[in-house]
Amino acid sequence: SDSSPRICGMPLKYVSLVTLAVQNAALSIVMHYSRVSIPASEAYSPATAVLLNELLKGAISFVVALMRVLNASDAAGRGVVGVWVAFRRVCREIFSADCWKLSIPALLYVVQNSLQFVAISNLPVATFQVTYQMKILTTAAFSVALLRKKLTSTKWLALTFLAIGVGIVQIQSSTGHSPKPHNIAVGSAHDSAPLHIHIMSPLKGFGAVTAACFTSGLAGVYFEMVLKGSKADLWVRNVQLSLFSLVPAAIPLFWGSPLPTSPAGFFSGLLRGFGGWAWATVGIQVLGGLITAIVIKYSDNILKGFATSLSIVISFLASVALFGFRITPSFVIGSSTVLVATWMYNQPPGKELVAITSVMPN
Ligand code: C5P
Repeated sequence: SDSSPRICGMPLKYVSLVTLAVQNAALSIVMHYSRVSIPASEAYSPATAVLLNELLKGAISFVVALMRVLNASDAAGRGVVGVWVAFRRVCREIFSADCWKLSIPALLYVVQNSLQFVAISNLPVATFQVTYQMKILTTAAFSVALLRKKLTSTKWLALTFLAIGVGIVQIQSSTGHSPKPHNIAVGSAHDSAPLHIHIMSPLKGFGAVTAACFTSGLAGVYFEMVLKGSKADLWVRNVQLSLFSLVPAAIPLFWGSPLPTSPAGFFSGLLRGFGGWAWATVGIQVLGGLITAIVIKYSDNILKGFATSLSIVISFLASVALFGFRITPSFVIGSSTVLVATWMYNQPPGKELVAITSVMPN
């Protein structure tokens, strides 16, 4: 990992893990708020959000891929002609013979991103976050099955502890500290606007979140397999992923809706209700997709699970310092479980027996 790129002197590996943790916390709050506590005039289409996410992510990845080719070329190759040559080279790489491999994670991620909207619109934020932690286990299972990662029983136990510990921390942070009641718009701008009353259906929410855990694990591991199984550039892979996502992401937009009378009417219909919260949701998702890709490249999917778990502990401690939250017994139990799990997972082989007996009561 010493050879991995650095940002401000710190290894990109750790910077990306920490950034992903912050992004994760922000997304579930902003996304939930944007769906549940909004005025009727700002009820936007999740299908459009999923499509916009892919369009923006693909465009940004394309620009990064182009810049990398340009930076690698000599000064003489950077004029208009140089840009054109680089553009053609990136396009050739994107439409390479093995680009079809990205169609599988692309479809899975579109399904996952759509399920996430169903889940978050039908469950309280904390319940969603707790149940979504089960993706730690699905990810490990798919890593073993597809990447032939070897996980000892100690590591499996550590992963189970991790999922349980995160669950305990989040349950306690949901009770008592709910920042605002659901279905009520806060802020003076919307006070007089009619509310979009949204009825939650927990069963539907749980079904969606369970399915999303499976697509998350499978898609992430599949992307890791494609990325690490060839020398192709990360950003080129990202463009391929976005391109293959466009078809499944666009289908729901045409499904069952009347044919548009004009292109202008079609586009304004798509963007109906897109206010600040909707755009913030899309922006945080785009950021998350880009960081996730970096994390998968420089670390792996299992480490990604640990990073997001520790973030939950850190963000709670920040609330204690900044907003005067009280530390509760369940927070101490939950976060200790997370820390023990992290330590257990990182025991070198051979020492595992020692690790496991020292946490077990005899
Ligand atoms: O929760 P999880 O880590 O599975 O979510 C991954 C998210 O990152 C998905 O929303 C997916 O669309 C996005 N992603 C991406 N590009 C990648 C890998 C993941 O946009 N290369």
